[in-house]
Order: sequence, then C-alpha cells, then structure tokens
Amino acid sequence: MGSNRIEIFYDSYHLDDIVEEDLRSQILSTIAFADNAYAPYSKFKVSAIIRLENGLLVKGANVENASYPVSNCAERNVLSHTTTNYPKETIASICIYADKNLKKPVPPCGLCRQTLLEIENRQDSPIKVYLVTKSKKIVEFHQAKDLLPFSFDATFLAE
Ligand code: THU
Repeated sequence: MGSNRIEIFYDSYHLDDIVEEDLRSQILSTIAFADNAYAPYSKFKVSAIIRLENGLLVKGANVENASYPVSNCAERNVLSHTTTNYPKETIASICIYADKNLKKPVPPCGLCRQTLLEIENRQDSPIKVYLVTKSKKIVEFHQAKDLLPFSFDATFLAE
C-alpha cells in the first residue's frame, strides 16, 4: 500500500582516475572494438566487452541487417557468445561503448537489460556494467539488476 521509491546507485568518473590496469585495458579495448561493428544502416557502432572472472575478455559489437528488426545489439551478441562458449565461467563485468560524440554514455536497451539480468541471476553473482563515452567518461553500475528495477525474472514462473 502507499507510494514506494526505488533507488539506483551508480558511480561516475574518468578513465584517468582508474588505477586498475585490467579495467583500463578492458575499457580501451572496448573503445577500439567499435570498429568491428557492422552498422551500415544506423552508422551507430556499438561495442561490448565482457571480462570473465578468469580474466579472459570476450568481445562483441552490433550487427545490423537490411531487414532492420533482424539487427542485434552489441550487448546481446557478446552475452550470447559468452553464455554458449564459456558456460561454466562467471562474468565479472561488461563494458559498453558507442562510437559517437555524446555527452552521456549509451545505456543498454530494454532487451539487453533483460538479457543481462537473466545471465546475472543464472550465475548468482553481480555483473558490473561500465558505460563509456568517447571522451572516456565512465558510468559504473555495481550489478545488472540496478539497470532494470521492478523486473520480470524466473522467480515468477516458479510460483
Ligand atoms: N545498439 C546497440 O548495439 N546497443 C545499445 O545499447 C543501443 C543500440 C545498436 C542497435 C542498432 O544496431 C544501433 O545501435 C542503432 O540503434
């Protein structure tokens, strides 16, 4: 009963403030990997790089299609690839970048947030999400769940 409020926590800082070498290189690789996107229709190149707990980086980018709805986002491409190729590994983080001069970093779309949530729940450990701008500003979410409050998940199917 009554009004309720959901709070979302996130951090913002610049690449220059990061001392952790692993994270710096994940972010710089994500920026470079946007070149590999196939986005001839939107010209909106997006890249996403996952870091597994074992340190391995898994890379993805958006892939578009002349039949527009067939296109797939960078995040879901890399999440599907990682889930199927490294089924036993835990995902530590995902870094997302769009090759555009934008003030704010590009956040994952609704479909990608739902996918991130599924994978996070499946592995039962948080996936950090780093959103990066061209000027190397970072927005960090501590878990994918924070990007999709009031979400639908498998617990509803079990009731
Ligand atoms: N896109 C992504 O790959 N990730 C996002 O977070 C936002 C949008 C792609 C989909 C499409 O290829 C292009 O960007 C324009 O929407």
